[in-house]
Amino acid sequence: MEFSERVERISISGIREVFEAASADAINLGLGQPDFPTPDHARQAAVEAIETGKADAYTGNRGTESLREAVAAKFARDQGVDVDPDEVVATAGASEALHVAMEAHVGPGDEVLVPDPGFVSYDALTKVAGAEPVPVELRDDLTLDPAAVEDAVGEDTAAFVVNSPGNPTGAVSPPADAREFARIAREHDVLCLSDEVYEHTVFDGEHRSPLEWERENVVVAGGCSKTYSMTGWRLGWVVGAPARVERMLRVHQYAQACATAASQYAAEAALTGPQDVVAEMCDTFERRRDIVVDRFDEMGLDCPRPQGAFYAMPEVPEGFVDACIDRDVVVVPGEAFGSGGEGRMRVSYATDEADLREALDRMETALATVSR
Ligand SMILES: Cc1ncc(COP(=O)(O)O)c(C=O)c1O
Repeated sequence: MEFSERVERISISGIREVFEAASADAINLGLGQPDFPTPDHARQAAVEAIETGKADAYTGNRGTESLREAVAAKFARDQGVDVDPDEVVATAGASEALHVAMEAHVGPGDEVLVPDPGFVSYDALTKVAGAEPVPVELRDDLTLDPAAVEDAVGEDTAAFVVNSPGNPTGAVSPPADAREFARIAREHDVLCLSDEVYEHTVFDGEHRSPLEWERENVVVAGGCSKTYSMTGWRLGWVVGAPARVERMLRVHQYAQACATAASQYAAEAALTGPQDVVAEMCDTFERRRDIVVDRFDEMGLDCPRPQGAFYAMPEVPEGFVDACIDRDVVVVPGEAFGSGGEGRMRVSYATDEADLREALDRMETALATVSR
């Protein structure tokens, strides 16, 4: 059998391998999804769409007009940015948003700067598009340094990826950095692909989008998965300047036709309905963040205090990840997110407090078994 060179360059995510190695009753701190139900009003909107037959047919390729209006209204409310609904394409999660953005903008001979450690899709999707990922090291506090990005921009750079709040780090870029990313995109005429899927899970600092300062060269990928605990609904969006959206739509149209209709109605209800669930989830994550990071402190594990998302990324001694897995606590080795993650692990605290405390107790026992 023969396969494309591009696909031979990628492999199944290292995160999956960890899950497969773990026993079924292990405490799983490896998952990247909120442990809350989808808000009832979102579910009911999908039920209604199914029962009335509204969800039976394709929607427009871009998504329903009313969903795209709701996404545009979100940008006006949260970013103070005036987005036209025609500058929005509804996608199958932020995952597809990242995919169409890469396919539309980069190809053989191009380089894409990706944060290292960074979300696994950036490196893989760059390769699938036939381009070359170039890792950019993070600062000690695990934020992406605009100066490091600017230094790495070269003749072949077509795009750079920013992700704040970040996975796997939980780091939130200061507003001045978001503004710098916008300037770099403009001055060097390269695409800034801003993954804002964790935009509403921020405890300290604030989420700012490079789109606030630059409209031509910034594309935003976002979605409902994390904000509304809707990972299974597969509903996201990509937003950008009209010419960029038109190119991304070409890829989306042939790969996906349209995002799932029932999910579009659910997402619209989530975006336009009461937002108190979002704040409640965020408060819960913040409480857990403190439990985790305070405990790491007590254990002597060095861990920048994450300001958002639901991950922490402490430095750990060699053998510690395996020692945790031996004690039925699933964590992800930092190198699964790039060589910059070596010597760290990612812990997701999208798990209830009792399990989290039990997992931390087991980690402390595991730590005693490895040399430091
Ligand atoms: C940084 C980041 N971007 C994008 C995604 C994909 O999200 P979605 O479920 O919307 O496809 C994830 C999911 O873990 C993520 O962590």
